[in-house]
Order: sequence, then C-alpha cells, then structure tokens
Amino acid sequence: MSDKIAYSRDGDIAVLTVQNPPVNALSHAVRAGLWAGMDQAESDDGVRAVLIVGEGRAFFAGADITEFGKPPLEPHLPDLINRIEASPLLVVASMHGVSLGGGLEVALGCHYRIAVPSARVGLPEVHLGLIPGAGGTQRLPRLTGVEPALEVMTTGRHVGAKAAHDLGIIDVIKDGDPGKNGLAYAQKLLKDGAGRRAVSEMPPPEPIDWDAAFEATLARSKGQISPAHCVRAVQASVEKPFAEGLKAERQIFYDLMQTDQRQGMIHAFFSERAVSNLPELKGVTPRGLQHIGVIGGGTMGAGIATAALLAGLEVTLLEMSAEAGQAARDRIERNLSGAVKRGKITPNQHDQILTHTLVVVTNYEKLHDVDLVIEAVFEDMSVKKKVFGELDCVCKQGAILASNTSYLDINEIAASTSRPADVLGLHFFSPAHVMKLLEVVVADKTAPDVTATGFALGKMLGKISVRAGVCDGFIGNRILSTYRTAADHMILDGASPYDIDAALEAFGFAMGPFAVADLAGLDIGWAVRKRKRAEGLDPRARDTHYADKLCEDGHFGQKTGKGYYDYAAGPKARVPNPDVLPLIEAERAAQGITPRSFTHEEIVRRYMASMVNEAAKVVGEGIARRPSDVDMTLLFGYGFPRYRGGPLKWADIQGLPELLNDIKGYAETDPYFWHPAPLLEQLVADGRTFDDLNKEG
Ligand code: CAA
Repeated sequence: MSDKIAYSRDGDIAVLTVQNPPVNALSHAVRAGLWAGMDQAESDDGVRAVLIVGEGRAFFAGADITEFGKPPLEPHLPDLINRIEASPLLVVASMHGVSLGGGLEVALGCHYRIAVPSARVGLPEVHLGLIPGAGGTQRLPRLTGVEPALEVMTTGRHVGAKAAHDLGIIDVIKDGDPGKNGLAYAQKLLKDGAGRRAVSEMPPPEPIDWDAAFEATLARSKGQISPAHCVRAVQASVEKPFAEGLKAERQIFYDLMQTDQRQGMIHAFFSERAVSNLPELKGVTPRGLQHIGVIGGGTMGAGIATAALLAGLEVTLLEMSAEAGQAARDRIERNLSGAVKRGKITPNQHDQILTHTLVVVTNYEKLHDVDLVIEAVFEDMSVKKKVFGELDCVCKQGAILASNTSYLDINEIAASTSRPADVLGLHFFSPAHVMKLLEVVVADKTAPDVTATGFALGKMLGKISVRAGVCDGFIGNRILSTYRTAADHMILDGASPYDIDAALEAFGFAMGPFAVADLAGLDIGWAVRKRKRAEGLDPRARDTHYADKLCEDGHFGQKTGKGYYDYAAGPKARVPNPDVLPLIEAERAAQGITPRSFTHEEIVRRYMASMVNEAAKVVGEGIARRPSDVDMTLLFGYGFPRYRGGPLKWADIQGLPELLNDIKGYAETDPYFWHPAPLLEQLVADGRTFDDLNKEG
C-alpha cells in the first residue's frame, strides 16, 4: 500500500489513516492507497467496517490541484469513490478541518459521516474554474435537495459542521479526537445493526426550472462560466440514472478542464500563495509587532488604523489638531461599525477597541514606543520629509518607519532620516481595511528584517502582500498609469469613455477605467497630470486635457455627483454625463484629429497590450520579482477578473508573439508610447512564456 495511507485494525474495524501533509490532497498515491486499503480491509478476516480518517490539519482538501492539466492516472477519483460506496463493509468517514471538493465527495461516498464541531465542508471547484467532478453534483442534491446543493456548489463557500448537519450532509457532530470518535461511531453502528447506506441509491431530488437557474447563475457570475455549469450537472442528477448522471458530470468537468478560465483560476490559486514566498527572506526573523503608529487620519489613515485594530494591534494615530483627531476617530468608528454589521467583530469588541486599543494624539512624542509607524499624509515630498524627520527624532531605535505613498521615491524619503535601513513603503489600497492588496516597497537600503516585518504585517492584516521595487507608481499604479493613457489615446482617436468602460466590463473588470476614476476621484488623476506636466512631458508624448476641464468646473466624480458619469440617481445608477462628449470633441478638433470607430475587441486588445507591455517592463526592470506578482497586484488591487489569472497569464494564453505583433503595429503610428518591452521581445525570441519565468522562482 502507498505510504500515504496507514492501515490498522481495531477489533472488527479497519482504519485507513490518510497521511499526506499539509492538507491531505487526494494525489495519485493517496487514491491508490485508499483503493488498496479497501481491498485489504475486504480480505482481512473479521473486518466488518472501515473508518477513513485524516491525519494533520484536514480530512481531505480535495483533488491534488498540482496534478491538473497533466494526464490523469488511475485510479480516478470517481471510480475510487464508487468503489468505496459499493463495498460490502460499512464505511464511515470521520471528518475534521476541511473536507473540500473531492474530499467531501469521498465522504459522500462513505455510508456514514461524523465530524468535529469545527469541521468545514464545501465544493469549491468553481473557484478553480471547474465543477465538482467526482460525484458531488450527483450525490449532494440527493442528500440536501437541489436548491441547497446548488447554493453550496455555485458559491463554493465553506459550510460549518452544524449547517452541514442541518442540511443532512453530516450525520453526527461530536467533539474530540476524529480517530477515536470515528471508531466509537463505527462500533455503535455495527452494534445497532446499521446497514450500508449508499447516497447514489437514494431517489433523485425534485426538479426545478433548470434554464432559469442556469441563466440566473450565469448572470450572477460576472463572466465566469463554471457556476452555471453546476446547474446542468445537477440537472443530470435529477433526469438521468445515477451512472449516467456521473458520466454527464465527468464530461462537463473535462470540458471545463480545457478552458482558459480553469487555467486562469488555478494560476491565481497558486500565485496568491507564492507571492509572499521570498527567497531573500528565508531564515530572516521579522521584528516584533504589537503597537502601530499611523500618521494622518483621512480616509487612508483611518482605513489603515481600522485594519490594524481589527487584527488585534494597538494603534496610536496622530492628527494635526483635536478636531482632525475627532474626525479620524469618527471615521474609524464608522469602519468598525461596518465590521460589526459584517459579523467580523462583536459590538463588545467594537467598544473595547475604541476605548482601549485606539489612541488618537496630536503630539509626535506619543509615538516614542511604536514598533512600526505608517505615514499616510498628503502626497508631497516636502511634507513627507518633514513627517519622517519628526519620526526619526521620536521613534525608539529599531522602530520601522513606513510610508504609504503611492508613487513618491522611498529612497529619497529614507535618505532624509538617520536610519534608512528601517524605512520602507507600505502601499495600501483604499478602503485600506477592505482591499486585499498591500505593496511592500523595498528601498535600496531597507534591511531584510524590515522587509520581512512588512510581509508579517500584511499577513496579520489578511492582505496579499507583493514585493515592489522603487519607481514612479511601483507595480500597480505604474501599470495603471500606462493603460489609462492607452484609454485616453483611444478617446482622442474616436472611442468614448462609455464604450471603453462597456468593453472592459464585458472583459470581466469589476468596473471600467472611467467608472473607477469617478470612484477614486478625478482630482487624483488631475494632480498626477499636473505633476507630470510640471516635470516636463516628453515632446513625443500625446497629452489630453478634456478631463482637466471637468475638474476645473469642480466635477471630481462620485464624491461631487458628477464626473464622466452623472450620479444624481445614486452611486450605482450612473448615466453618462452629457458634458463629457462635447469636451472630448472640442479637444479632438483642437488637435486636428478625425475620429474613427473602435470595436469592443480593439478596445480590449489595445488596453490589454498596453497593460502587458508595461507589466513586462516592470518585471524586466526587477520592480516586480516575477510575472505572477504582477498578476496578483492587478487581481487584488485593480479589479482584474480572477478567472483570467492576471494580465501576464492572459498574455501567455493569448500568445506572446501575437501580442508583440499588435504592439509593433500600434507603434507604427505612436512609436513613443508603444515601445515594446525588452523582456517581451526576449521571451518571444526564445519561444518562452511569462509562466516559464514564474517557474524559475
Ligand atoms: N491540492 C494541492 N495542494 C493544495 C491543495 C490541493 N487541493 N489545497 C491546498 N494545497 C496546498 C497549498 O498550495 C499550500 O501549499 P504551499 O504551502 O506550498 O504554498 C498548502 O497546501 C497549504 O495551503 P494554504 O496555504 O492554502 O493553507 P490554508 O490553511 O490557508 O488553507 C485550504 C487550506 C482551505 C485547504 C486551502 O488551501 C484551499 O482552499 N485549498 C483548495 C481546496 C479546493 O479547492 N479543493 C477542491 C479541489 S478540486 C477537486 O477536488 C475536483 C474534484 O471534484 C475531483
């Protein structure tokens, strides 16, 4: 038998203990071991029941995702589960930790299921671009009925033991050791003369309006196709005999396995976990973190403070005056009330945090014993340097001084202190207590343990932390600035902001770039344009001014009720602002441009080409460590559709030679903007992909 399954006997019960750390994924060796274990139990004299139990953190986390995309090896999981279910012995699953995907499907193939109260079950395959592929769509509806089964599998959510018990998925909940509980339960079942119980032999559930459910699921899934396919597979469980239903499920599973969405989502799954795994930090111990300082209590500072408070850290927030301090406290209180509503903290914890854990001060001296301080003040180098000068004077030795700047030079900020090794950038995204992305910006002199502490803080706050080097805009805003420019060029040439937003929302972005600009505030882009013009634009660069006019008239987007869109009917009921197109037309006329039409396809192609090209420069220059780090930045900070994996995964799937050709074609009319990234050219020349670079680590 495989070394992944330990076989033992306890009286007339055979115990199959799964030992495949960290999460007992159902790899080939595990499947083979379980099969052999069942064979052994059935031929072992006196065995009347089999207990399947997991060692370590989980029962099973599901199929081994690293095997996806490779030729499947026998025994296949559906066959193994059928074989377990068909056993003449009584088979009991004792579940703890998670039982997900194939893991829950194994449990559903067992005749009885017991779990500890903290156990969680689920069919999260939709998050990998798939549907449950080992009988889950056929067995679960037989146990729970169609609607609850569809809810579980189309959301992919984890269901707690009690709720799973209420749904009929778990028979018994019992606290204690899963092995001992399982044995006691199996013994009781044998003593009571309980018989084999196969879910596949249960009658199929009642049908629903399948087409309506399919369409509704598709509409809810924002371009992702796998959830709607769950509906078709469950439909088969009702309309076909069990074995035929399984075949239908398998076919859909295999069809989805061939899709770009499956590739994109599995890339996201692994990249999200790899992103904070930095070779440079192996063996580096982060500094202790208990007490955080925050400078500035505006939206960003209050959001950062909220995130830290929710993570259990003490926070001292500095504002310029008592009034500003009160306003900051009010903002934090509103954020925390939201957390109470979402069930993240109790009302009691809310009060406790506000009275004991948060301190608002107006004097730098009060920051003398913070472990790390994050500055979130106005984006102006002289203001930042003044703040860092003060911090340098008051903060204890070893305290980390961080800036939340979104584009200023951290090296210059660090050089203005007497301790540049303790300085780094921690770039949060607004609202900072909600958005998952954190760019950890490592300056030339940042000490390794300071970088490690930045990542440790990100982990405490539940963020996806990405290492970024110093440049204007770091990873995310630098790429954003380029694709926004590409969008502005298309507008000059004839597209409208509304066409562009529609094309990109259809591509899968949560919001198009102009709706995003309205949300963020048009004053931000205006300030950047003014800064860049003041620094001196290259004479070859195309500039646009129509959005300046909106700002000059006091229209900053959602916060003033008008921007590219008019929000008179509320933030979600946007309609185009009728003043915008005339402004654009006037600018085209002034620049002597004859507008042409753009298809949605061309809009997406140009927008994505600019994004990929800049991303390749960011990787090539070492600002991002690997392509997948850029992908995660765009996914978690910029609303890039997860099912496409990120811009560089998308580029690999499209084909890099074709993309480079497009870029070279665009360069014929605007060689300055469309300068191909050297890394992209190199990859094409070598016949390699961005993913090949990810694999190099
Ligand atoms: N296959 C292979 N590796 C897996 C895995 C799986 N199913 N699940 C987790 N891992 C790996 C992770 O990649 C990670 O590896 P590294 O340490 O090398 O980065 C390690 O296990 C630990 O995982 P996490 O860091 O995510 O640990 P966690 O405690 O935060 O979360 C978890 C644990 C809830 C199980 C989470 O990993 C998870 O959600 N895993 C995916 C579960 C899933 O989607 N299962 C369905 C698989 S598809 C299927 O089963 C198809 C079918 O129907 C046949």
